[in-house]
Amino acid sequence: MKAVKAWLDERVGLEAVSRFATAQLEKPVPRGLNYAFTLGTAAMVLFGTQVGSGILLAMNYSSSMEAAYASVQRITYDVPCGWLIRSIHVWGAHLMVLVVLLHMLRVFWTGGYKKPRELTWIFGCGLLLITLGFGFTGYLLPMDQVSYWGTMIGTEWPGAMPGVGEALARALRGGEEVSSGTLARFFILHVLLLPAALCGLIGAHVYLVRRLGIATRQPVDVEHNGGYKRLMEREGVPFSRHVYREVTTVFVLLSLLVTLAVAFPAGLGAAATPDQTPPGVKPNWYFLPVFQLIKYCPKMAAMILVNALIVALFFLPFLDRNPRKEPRRRKFLMVATGVGLAATLAVGFLGFICEKRVGPVQFDTLGVPHWVEASVQPLIGSSVHSFQKCDAGTRSSNGRAVMSSLERREPRSSADATSSDGRTREQRNGGTGEPLRVEQP
Ligand code: HEM
Repeated sequence: MKAVKAWLDERVGLEAVSRFATAQLEKPVPRGLNYAFTLGTAAMVLFGTQVGSGILLAMNYSSSMEAAYASVQRITYDVPCGWLIRSIHVWGAHLMVLVVLLHMLRVFWTGGYKKPRELTWIFGCGLLLITLGFGFTGYLLPMDQVSYWGTMIGTEWPGAMPGVGEALARALRGGEEVSSGTLARFFILHVLLLPAALCGLIGAHVYLVRRLGIATRQPVDVEHNGGYKRLMEREGVPFSRHVYREVTTVFVLLSLLVTLAVAFPAGLGAAATPDQTPPGVKPNWYFLPVFQLIKYCPKMAAMILVNALIVALFFLPFLDRNPRKEPRRRKFLMVATGVGLAATLAVGFLGFICEKRVGPVQFDTLGVPHWVEASVQPLIGSSVHSFQKCDAGTRSSNGRAVMSSLERREPRSSADATSSDGRTREQRNGGTGEPLRVEQP
């Protein structure tokens, strides 16, 4: 063993690597870090599982327009453990977006974006956009009805931007419609460009975090001019004391991921039919606020608002000049952000509930509830006690048609095929009689 160690040391400098790792573990961090400070590591681990499961999926996926759907069908129902790998990838994508958003909120809450960590925050914003980009491009890859039409809607959004919009939408789609060109673009973005960009940005982000250290609760001027080093010498604790929290979070997260993947396996809808728009098509949950906002105001206004918010997010460290970090000393920003977040969640919830039926209540495309008689099928617009008259002719205030519709039911084409794990498609989906749909990332 000693001889192997000496052999390796001579060639790769094992001693230097071990000295570096020990120095990292001994590096002081502020006292009192809690589990909220483990979310960055959790995001990194989730990215790792996405890369691993993505490579396994790519071995069986075909990115041509004609073969994509069939290849995902094969992965889901025929390839040994294909359904599990695919479900881990689908749920991993949802969890990664959630964890990155929570990590950002933690940094915002603790004022960790303030001087001298402005660049760490800006790189973080880039990481958020790339993570959302994974969700957007991955959504199309299964090429079922929801992914095809969801991408059709999503790629229309940039078109509303003044000036460059039209060209951007066309470049994204590779033409006027979602086509084989779009699939090729999205596939390359999803498996090559976005992972490379994310790896590079994570490297830069984590380098800055290690170089500047985790922010203390002290005002920015106290940390300035060697103040951080003095603070750490006085009241810092070694990073190794925080590592058990990181390990616990990662363990809980991976257990949750596998549980979700096994309990709610990713389903597959009917193959995309470009000439037949299905009702109730929606994007992934994290795009629901934008999806719904566009229904309430002109598309261009919504796009300007969304882009302005993104720019403000990037430049937050320069817009917020308050040197204090405690939330109670940043009341205005906290209240404004709280109101903005509540509005975003409310609009997103309307996007989630719209075109759904809950008991005797049918929600239309704007999320307005309509009372429908229990015995009457929801597609029939007649209402007994309606909150608002609901039929195909009802128009919203901005003139859009407001049509109620049934939630989409999955067709059962070859649904009873028995797969390699011996279970039918329906059994794997909980025996509900119809394939369970987990939206694609
Ligand atoms: C894939 C996405 C991301 C990864 C892997 C990641 C990774 C990390 C890690 C490991 C840390 C150390 C502390 C901790 O874990 O909380 C950290 C800190 C930090 N992150 Fe991220 N991050 C990501 C996204 C973001 C986003 C979206 C933002 C904000 C827009 C952001 C801003 C920051 C800042 C400013 C710090 C320093 C905070 C402090 O010193 O208190 N990060 N990040």
